[in-house]
Amino acid sequence: MDKKIIDMLMEDLDQSRLEHTLRVVEEAKRLARRYDVDIQKATTAALLHDCGKLKDNNNLLKLADDFDIMMTDNKDLIHAPLGAALAQHKYKIEDEDILNAIKYHTTGRKDMSHLEKIIYIADYIEPNRKFIGVERVRRLAFEDLDESICLAMDQTIVFLVKSNRIISLDTIEARNQLVSKGNKGGSQWAK
Ligand SMILES: [Fe+2]
Ligand SMILES: [Fe+2]
Repeated sequence: MDKKIIDMLMEDLDQSRLEHTLRVVEEAKRLARRYDVDIQKATTAALLHDCGKLKDNNNLLKLADDFDIMMTDNKDLIHAPLGAALAQHKYKIEDEDILNAIKYHTTGRKDMSHLEKIIYIADYIEPNRKFIGVERVRRLAFEDLDESICLAMDQTIVFLVKSNRIISLDTIEARNQLVSKGNKGGSQWAK
């Protein structure tokens, strides 16, 4: 199963995206073990989380149109819903939890499942991520999953504001829910 998926991914993704994907798989497996999530499901979701990041940009836009995926101003966001559609129709994944983990891996959303949280954070902390603040999230991820997501979202929101980009309402709702449950997010480091 995994081998077949990887063979198909090799056709659609460029080499660096594939290598990123395999690092996310390893991170997702570690998190799945830590938080008692089905390892095979975590592996499949991680393998496919960026399957919508096609190396051929024209193909990406055409497929997004085929699957009726809303175009937003932020192209980074298209690959996640497109990936979920491809996972379902091309890779024949039926498990709703896996499909949602792919669909929401960039933005997160309210009421995320454990699997969704693991894929979100595995993508954020895989070893090649070098941005400021990633170390804090990396540490927290294995101590307190919700707190690590809250911090990752706060850092993402600050980055999006600074670079004048669209912030998904799903991220805002997810972050509000985490804060209302007592998570501290980025406030601990704010000056
Ligand atoms: Fe992604
Ligand atoms: Fe990714």
